[in-house]
Amino acid sequence: MAKKQAKPTIPCDIADPSLAAEGRRRTEWAAAEMPVTRQIMEQFRRTKPLKGHRLAACLHVTTETANLMLALKAGGAELRLCASNPLSTQNDVAAHLVKHQGISVFAIHGVNNRDYYRHINATLDFNPTMTMDDGCDLVTTLHTKRRNLLPGIAGGTEETTTGVIRLRAMEADGALAYPVVAVNDAMTKHFFDNRYGTGQSTIDGILRATNLLLAGRTVVVAGYGWCGRGFANRARGLGAHVIVTEVDPTKAIEAVMDGFRVLPMLDAAPLGDVFVTLTGDINVVDVHHMKKMKDGAIICNSGHFDVEINLKGLKALAKSSREVRRGVTEYELSRNRHVRVLVDGRLVNLSAAEGHPAAVMDMSFADQSLAAEYLAKNAGKLKNSVYPMPVELDERVARLKLKSLGVAIDKLTPEQKAYLASYEHGT
Ligand code: ADE
Repeated sequence: MAKKQAKPTIPCDIADPSLAAEGRRRTEWAAAEMPVTRQIMEQFRRTKPLKGHRLAACLHVTTETANLMLALKAGGAELRLCASNPLSTQNDVAAHLVKHQGISVFAIHGVNNRDYYRHINATLDFNPTMTMDDGCDLVTTLHTKRRNLLPGIAGGTEETTTGVIRLRAMEADGALAYPVVAVNDAMTKHFFDNRYGTGQSTIDGILRATNLLLAGRTVVVAGYGWCGRGFANRARGLGAHVIVTEVDPTKAIEAVMDGFRVLPMLDAAPLGDVFVTLTGDINVVDVHHMKKMKDGAIICNSGHFDVEINLKGLKALAKSSREVRRGVTEYELSRNRHVRVLVDGRLVNLSAAEGHPAAVMDMSFADQSLAAEYLAKNAGKLKNSVYPMPVELDERVARLKLKSLGVAIDKLTPEQKAYLASYEHGT
């Protein structure tokens, strides 16, 4: 008979504490790929830069996030963690953090919208002094429903493009009530996480959900930002014919010169076998596109929110729907036309797979750790604005990553430095 599990004694809401051992094993596996975050954790253990801070984190609850939590805890922070997406939580990781690390986690894979926000509110219930968000749902909740907590908050960090866009809109409106560091915009974040992380993990999600052969298939990529670029290149690497759709003329030229076919979505619709949205905008794949798609076309999203595919419109149009494979819903548009949507249009890389590999999250989460330290050091000195990641911190993460990879680089000579600082030299 299975041993009865003791109930956790700290505030939390998780699916199953008995999964903790597996969560620990997988978190340790990821840690081996996160040498930069580990070094920062070791430094934090000595210097305790976050001592006295209560940090509310709203992030995808993955093995990589677990390692970030350990670094922040080593830095002296008291922590609460909730999920930044209802489908991205790894229940074993949540159990490990609660049971073995004493970190309060409020996250269960597959929760409904009400429980998703209940978890965000529970994460805020300990009166945080700092926030760490991925997509801005925590910050928005604070600024709308929990305004009484705002005066106690020294600062926050934001992990993703979508979140930074929302924060900039708040700042422009004069609504932002504390300083936030846009970690997403660090070079060591978006250059690698958004490009190579999303590139690989989106492929991973599609393959785990469908087991499709991509070679020879036509893949339509909506959006040619860092994530779209990364994914388009990986899909091409697997032998797919890739079509890019864009609204930004410069990005469209870049896609053309990178060797991709660029078309409006309506023209791409009848050609694609797989459609992937990575835009951050709504209804990028709309009903009038779906009506033109081939029978059996697969549609998925790798942008932060589940708004990029017009699922509401699809549901209204469809005669019937059924789950044809775990995470794959087939909608019948007419007798011989069906489209298949992966994981309800939620982030396919985190909902059908495990998100980005640890080696790339290593830099993103080293950035997060250093941004938290920066906010603690500068508490009370910053304006209520969106701040870029300080360049010296960005560079420090790059240098640490290179060192961990055993890659050495050159240094400018004094003569070269002087040349770069001068304007007298010419032809
Ligand atoms: N975002 C994308 N991949 C992730 C991961 N593995 N962990 C946390 N957040 C992520």
